[in-house]
Amino acid sequence: MDSRNEKSRTIRILVINGPNLNLLGRREPAIYGHDTYAGLVDMVQRHCAARGVECEVMQSNHEGVIVDAIQQAMDEYDGIVINPAAYTHTSVAILDALKAVQLPAVEIHISDVNNREDFRRVSYPGMYCFRTVSGEGINGYCTAIDALLDHIAGQ
Ligand code: DQA
Repeated sequence: MDSRNEKSRTIRILVINGPNLNLLGRREPAIYGHDTYAGLVDMVQRHCAARGVECEVMQSNHEGVIVDAIQQAMDEYDGIVINPAAYTHTSVAILDALKAVQLPAVEIHISDVNNREDFRRVSYPGMYCFRTVSGEGINGYCTAIDALLDHIAGQ
């Protein structure tokens, strides 16, 4: 492809959500808030539209589906925002997928994972991500998207 076309095409990002985030709004609202998953998707899509970028938002309760999505992102997207949810603390497979595709990635957690149980302080995907946003509620997705877009712009 012509390098000018390559530079001027619309940035595309993939937003990945891990297990149980589909239950947002009903799931432990004292920790994760009252906004629903549909509300989160709407907020992310509006934010991306306002920033002039395309985004796809997905959620899965299955580790392998998330690994597949990261692999398929390799030639489709310019970067990834990921809330691996519980897989944060267990998944070498998601870490390895991120390392394999080498797309810039930001980790996001709705809750403040560093001020909860000790096991939540460990993040495997976070060992690859260039930034982690934590404890800002669902607004943290916008912070994460902005950090990713700043990073892409600086590449
Ligand atoms: C979470 C934090 C994780 O520890 C937890 O397992 C989740 C959600 C968050 O967004 O705060 O499912 O990733």
